[in-house]
Amino acid sequence: MENQEECVEKVYPMPRIGDVAPDFEAVTTKGKMKMSEFAKDKWVVMFSHPADFTPVCTTEMSGFAVRKPEFDALNTELLGLSIDSIHSHLGWVQNVRENTGVYFDFPIIADIDMNVSKLYGMLQPNESETAAVRAVFFIDPEKKIRLIMYYPLNVGRNMDEILRSLDALQTSDKHKVAMPLDWQRGDKVIVPAPSTLEALDERLVDDSVEKTTWYLAKKSI
Ligand code: BEZ
Repeated sequence: MENQEECVEKVYPMPRIGDVAPDFEAVTTKGKMKMSEFAKDKWVVMFSHPADFTPVCTTEMSGFAVRKPEFDALNTELLGLSIDSIHSHLGWVQNVRENTGVYFDFPIIADIDMNVSKLYGMLQPNESETAAVRAVFFIDPEKKIRLIMYYPLNVGRNMDEILRSLDALQTSDKHKVAMPLDWQRGDKVIVPAPSTLEALDERLVDDSVEKTTWYLAKKSI
């Protein structure tokens, strides 16, 4: 018979969209931080990578570094994480800087005790028991989780999609609209569908929006 302990499935909590970002304290490449006090009045894009000194992770982290000015323009702080020591992080940052000239100029959490990885559902034991999956958490200035991405160890993320998602969330908030399939900045946006018969009648005669039908209408912003 199998050892009782081996049969117990490891289940860690998964944060959900709409939750307040779980609070934690951590050591990063830029010093100590506490999530609830990090990047006040800004958005945070927090992302995990499986391991330092690995090829896919190096391309991804370089992508975040190279495109950091675009995150800055969207009032957003970057925050990396992996289950590696601070010395490993420093060695990797320096190694990539020496080899490619790209500098990871944002904090990277050394989650050596896996505390944050477990708190944020980044440790998915059927994928890896020791390395975080490739997660991305979009956290708004009120510290609410607004969008979550999880990628496996063997597939790198898409930086255009990460930036597009962030822009879409912020544009949706600002204009109280929704974003259609493949929305890109400059495209028309979806106005909320009417929720009363009176509003439906108003929509039918509203020529200021581009209507496909009464519940699907777009406008430029
Ligand atoms: C990589 O970044 O290349 C990698 C890391 C962990 C597992 C598989 C690939």
